Amino acid sequence: MSDFIRVASTSDIPEGKMKKVTVGNQQVLVVNLKGRYYAIGNVCTHFGGSLDRGILDGNEVECPLHHSHFDVITGQVKRGPAARAEPVYEVKAENGIILVKPK
Ligand code: FES
Repeated sequence: MSDFIRVASTSDIPEGKMKKVTVGNQQVLVVNLKGRYYAIGNVCTHFGGSLDRGILDGNEVECPLHHSHFDVITGQVKRGPAARAEPVYEVKAENGIILVKPK
């Protein structure tokens, strides 16, 4: 069983912002939605675009390459061409530190 890993300070990811972090060998996108943190895979399931370089609009992130949309809460595809959901990671904030649990 993996333990949570410290990935950032809460001040690194203000409300409405997102950040790429590394958890083990996995790239993870951490998003702050209205003060709550969510984490999904950062590598687009379509062709590997880096979602942190895309656009966050509400709870959807748009891939910068071919404009797939993913729900950052559920990881689900909201718009193609991507067809596979992103993995969802457990994330929590404690004492100003954001922690993510590796898969
Ligand atoms: S790589 Fe993300 S939509 Fe194609």
